[in-house]
Amino acid sequence: MIFSEFAIKNMALKNRFVRSATFEGAGESNGEVSPLEIGMYRDLAKGEVGLIISGVTCVHEKGRLFNSQNCLSGDTAIPGMARLAKAVHDQGGKLAVQLFHAGREGSRFLPKDGLAPSLVKDDPHFGLSHRAMTEEEIWEVVEAFGHAAARAKEAGCDAVQLHGAHAYLLAQFLSPHTNRRRDHWGGDLYARTKLHREILANIRKQVGMNYPVMIKLGVRDGFDGGLPLEQGLEAAAILAQAGFDCLEISQGLRGAEYHETEFRTNLKSAKERAYFREWAAEVKRRVNVPVMAVGGIRDLETAEDILQKGDADLISLSRPLISEPGLVARWRKGDIRPARCISCNKCIDELLAMRPITCVLDKAKGTNR
Ligand SMILES: Cc1cc2nc3c(=O)[nH]c(=O)nc-3n(C[C@H](O)[C@H](O)[C@H](O)COP(=O)(O)O)c2cc1C
Repeated sequence: MIFSEFAIKNMALKNRFVRSATFEGAGESNGEVSPLEIGMYRDLAKGEVGLIISGVTCVHEKGRLFNSQNCLSGDTAIPGMARLAKAVHDQGGKLAVQLFHAGREGSRFLPKDGLAPSLVKDDPHFGLSHRAMTEEEIWEVVEAFGHAAARAKEAGCDAVQLHGAHAYLLAQFLSPHTNRRRDHWGGDLYARTKLHREILANIRKQVGMNYPVMIKLGVRDGFDGGLPLEQGLEAAAILAQAGFDCLEISQGLRGAEYHETEFRTNLKSAKERAYFREWAAEVKRRVNVPVMAVGGIRDLETAEDILQKGDADLISLSRPLISEPGLVARWRKGDIRPARCISCNKCIDELLAMRPITCVLDKAKGTNR
């Protein structure tokens, strides 16, 4: 099944492989697409990845995480995004833009107050400056997502994906740990999905019903006392029902160690790999829209098995494609050795040092770009 065609709404994909959203740290400092990014995306599309999801692309300056990240908060970013889409299309691929707001994480690398659902004093999982958003600020974010989606569509991108996972704004609204509001944006689970649903409704007004609008959803936080799995699964069902066209299943807020995050390391045994597979399968049983599995998938056999068993419809990879942008083509041509990625997370260290991502295995050989 893995090399069979698939469609998400009217977006036809040549196979079931997705490049999971990956921030490359390679954008221009004004938020526009850089020549380096165009080269990276061309390589991925040439490598036969069916759908490429861009790295975190901020919809509003207040939601920016890094200076080197793409931003669709203004029209000036459209031509660059159009060049990126064309580079992917020229190689027969499809491009989705991941729309993003950092929420309280906005103060991690840049000097500003992080905007959060609630002020959580003495949070053992987060020690940076943040404050609760006003009603007006929340609606400003809803508007910003809509405008950014319209710009993505105008640039010729094939779809958008909301970032509703990991440490960021939408995951913060979904988690009872970070969302302690008592107004209509907080409280029970349904209220904690209101921001997601309002953003979707606003995006639909901008792009219409036929344009694919997807979400990457964290269905459990990385520490006890956060979003429990049962609620995350229910949230997935609510959001599919609300009209999202595809769900990629990951984790929510991060704990302190890598094994409490979406990018786990030391994936030695088969059991440690494909680490969110069961969550994707649980979601798949509850929804009628396509589901993407992501997290630690490293070999073709497992990828095919996930599809054959009906645990997901699409296979999403991040680190393996940093290491080998041509991995999918290699597998299709019959060299089915597992991905060479060793899940060491040295690519993340590059980002933390404010450099574009590279793979340490290339560095060791001196063959890095
Ligand atoms: C360098 C790096 C950058 C990432 N950037 C993003 C991002 O922009 N948006 C996102 O949703 N996830 C991001 N992720 C998480 C991946 O999309 C993926 O969910 C995670 O790495 C697990 O998949 P993998 O085992 O195939 O790498 C990033 C991961 C890495 C390693």
